[in-house]
Amino acid sequence: MQTAAFRDRFAFPRHGRDGRKTYFCGNSLGLMPDSARAAVEKELKRWADLGVDGHFDGDPAWLGYHRQCTDVLARLAGARPRDVVAMGALTVNLHLLMTSFYRPDGRKRKILIERGAFPSDRYAVVSQLLLHGYGEDDLIEVDPGEDGLIDDARVAELIRARADEIALVLWPGVQYATGQRFDCGLIGRAAHEAGVPIGLDLAHAMGNVPLALEDWQVDFAAWCSYKYLNAGPGAVAGLFVHPRHADFDGPRLAGWWGHDESTRFVMGPDFEPIRGAEGWQVSGAPVLNLAALRGALDIYREADIDSLQDAETDLTAHLMAAVDNLPGQPLKIVTPRERPRRGCQVSIAVRAGREAGRALFDRLQDAGVVGDWREPDIIRISPNPLYNSIEDVERLIALLDEFSG
Ligand SMILES: Cc1ncc(COP(=O)(O)O)c(C=O)c1O
Repeated sequence: MQTAAFRDRFAFPRHGRDGRKTYFCGNSLGLMPDSARAAVEKELKRWADLGVDGHFDGDPAWLGYHRQCTDVLARLAGARPRDVVAMGALTVNLHLLMTSFYRPDGRKRKILIERGAFPSDRYAVVSQLLLHGYGEDDLIEVDPGEDGLIDDARVAELIRARADEIALVLWPGVQYATGQRFDCGLIGRAAHEAGVPIGLDLAHAMGNVPLALEDWQVDFAAWCSYKYLNAGPGAVAGLFVHPRHADFDGPRLAGWWGHDESTRFVMGPDFEPIRGAEGWQVSGAPVLNLAALRGALDIYREADIDSLQDAETDLTAHLMAAVDNLPGQPLKIVTPRERPRRGCQVSIAVRAGREAGRALFDRLQDAGVVGDWREPDIIRISPNPLYNSIEDVERLIALLDEFSG
């Protein structure tokens, strides 16, 4: 099994005096690529050397710095460069986009999400309902089946059946708790054909699984960059707007950075948006933060997201098979096994319950294995093909065998 071609380019947290941690927490915060540090240091030096002239001088000048990220983001998103932009933060971007695309009208005013959505997404959609004078009654939450998963076809059917009531769907690319990856092409096209605007939250999908946003016909999408793009805590996020909205002239929360660049510094009173995704920008770009993203994306200039799905690099499949084979089967995998229905995250429920689960998680942490814990009984582990090795996975399997026996 050939793995972790990029491992040497990442910094691993230390464990004990000489060791390093066995890191499986890229679903929360990806490791730091050396290229991120170098890119930030470069911009700090340019600031020291140039002061305000850095906005216009040097390569790249800060004025269009965010575009240093566009080509890689577009490729990962399955979109054209004009339709993506590195900006803002995930929940903020979702609000900006929902302000434009959630346009309730009479009976058609409901928002559809998955039951058990990431809390911030639920807070965001409920607050959008409240802003329009509605309430939680107008939230539709799709229940999972007995296996904890949601059937893609059922979601598409529900959207079709209730299209006259639903004004917006906000759907995850990969569900944060279960690790289930959705058929966003099926769901996106169903919504589009039914005349229901749809946005995707790609927090756990971007950089984890291949995406084809333009083809899927989704109206918009937003993601964060601190997980699988490895751009650091609080990294600049990103968004996509479908090309059919390139000349969008509906409502939006405008700011000067979304204004047509050729006349931005004329400082006129009227807002003229940039065509495409950049028109949703609000504030001046945070260059030092963008530098970390630009540097981190160097990894994806070389790594091919499709190849990272190959059986050869599929450490997650190896881990799942080993967990299934633990004597006495103390652990239950929640994440679907099939490759098209998951990314690299595996969510593992501890059959003996919360206390035993928490004790197991703590022992793993003490041994230098980093995953994360989700109430009531889930350990999330994400073997990242960019930086995890088969030895990392074997080590985890041995510890699970020892601790959960
Ligand atoms: C699915 C999902 N939505 C929203 C968020 C919130 O992101 P942010 O704090 O960057 O807005 C997260 C954070 O992990 C997430 O996983």
